[in-house]
Amino acid sequence: MTTTTDSIAGIPRPRLRAIATREAERYATSRPKAAQALKQGAVHWLNGVPMHWMADWPMPHLPLVAKAQGAKLTDIDGHRIDDFCLGDTGSMFGHSPTPVAQAIKAQAARGLTYMLPTEAAMDAGRLLTQRFGDFRWQIATTATDANRFALRVARAVTGRPKVLVFNGCYHGTVDDTMVELANGTTVNRAGLVGQVQDLTKGATVAEFNDLAGVEAALQKGDVAAILTEPVMTNSCMVLPDPGFHQGLRDLATKHGALLIIDETHTISSGLGGYTAVHGLNPDMFVVGKCVAGGMPTAVWGMRPAVADRFAAYNATRADGHSGMGTTLSATAMQCACLSATLAQVMTPENYAHMEAGAERLSSGLAKAIAKHKAPWHVVRVGARVEFICAPGPLRNGSEAHHAHQPEVEAAVHTALLNRGCLIAPFHNMMLVSPATTDRQIDRLIAAFDAILTDLFPESQP
Ligand SMILES: Cc1ncc(COP(=O)(O)O)c(C=O)c1O
Repeated sequence: MTTTTDSIAGIPRPRLRAIATREAERYATSRPKAAQALKQGAVHWLNGVPMHWMADWPMPHLPLVAKAQGAKLTDIDGHRIDDFCLGDTGSMFGHSPTPVAQAIKAQAARGLTYMLPTEAAMDAGRLLTQRFGDFRWQIATTATDANRFALRVARAVTGRPKVLVFNGCYHGTVDDTMVELANGTTVNRAGLVGQVQDLTKGATVAEFNDLAGVEAALQKGDVAAILTEPVMTNSCMVLPDPGFHQGLRDLATKHGALLIIDETHTISSGLGGYTAVHGLNPDMFVVGKCVAGGMPTAVWGMRPAVADRFAAYNATRADGHSGMGTTLSATAMQCACLSATLAQVMTPENYAHMEAGAERLSSGLAKAIAKHKAPWHVVRVGARVEFICAPGPLRNGSEAHHAHQPEVEAAVHTALLNRGCLIAPFHNMMLVSPATTDRQIDRLIAAFDAILTDLFPESQP
């Protein structure tokens, strides 16, 4: 797209490399304590980190966090950082929102997990229905698990084997969804560790925004469910065409498949997620990450009609383990945090603040891109903003794949962090929380503008 042998995303390669080197050196020299702590401690972890994704950040080495509050992090070298990554959505409502911190403190005095419900659990169920609609809910610990369990139910009630997902999607590390299109054919994704199964037996892939492709897959009669995000947030950021979601709803109904909407990221859209804001009508609903304010929790729900079908299925299935559920799901602590978040954090006022801040951020970034004549663009879904180092809009996962520019993104991320701004790794995502201030947003815009000045000096006024 915007990559040639001489340039990437409109930037000559030698210039990009020089800037990347300069920023990496600046980063490394400003964090001696982190470098020392990592040298001593990292040896005990596989590849130096307690979770392997942490090794994928682009800086020369990781910062170590001393504390976080609201939308700010402080690292052990004393850098105060404006946090727009927010735990890649886990802390979308800010670090330790006060009602959640209070709920944790109160619950900690009463025990953490019992395999029994609490009054807070009853309250959380009521609030989930109030926020997201009439579903019969279950709690899981991760959105990965929630999607996995939703798929099990979809297969159980339809008696069909396959899930239809979109090329370039991400729904957590759900094996069934780790497939992609290669020349129009569904194949296992490259690079899956230790995967010995032929995943195409349980999955089929279409391109996002391609209703004809969806219908062709559904016509085979073996699809139990379409599983989709309302917006593809894990593949740059791909918005649905007008009518795409209604088309999905109609096709799912016509062909007897269920429609599962995964709102784990699009919960940024506003109160009730993209589903409520845009009037979608899924059969099953999944949301995780920030739903309990950062306490590991996800929820998944099915419409009462699906719950009835599931009850009928359960009445006839053989005795034995369902293959669903995990021990530390629906704990007293999770329920306390879920209830506190739904009642006191996911409020219209907080969403209004997030929306206004994200609009300020996205228009500021777009202005900087236009000023520097960068062949880039910006997309926003409520409180979630992404800049993409390629022209847009993108219509599907294949286009997003070509738009992704890891080398440019790595340099920009490190340069932003050197200027006190943290954005999400792996892509260029920024979140505005209820605690994020206009000053923080303006600092990020100014830092981005300064970096573009270096990357595109020929377009300076
Ligand atoms: C849309 C979507 N669904 C599910 C997940 C999985 O969440 P978790 O890693 O908490 O299991 C993710 C993670 O990024 C996601 O983006």
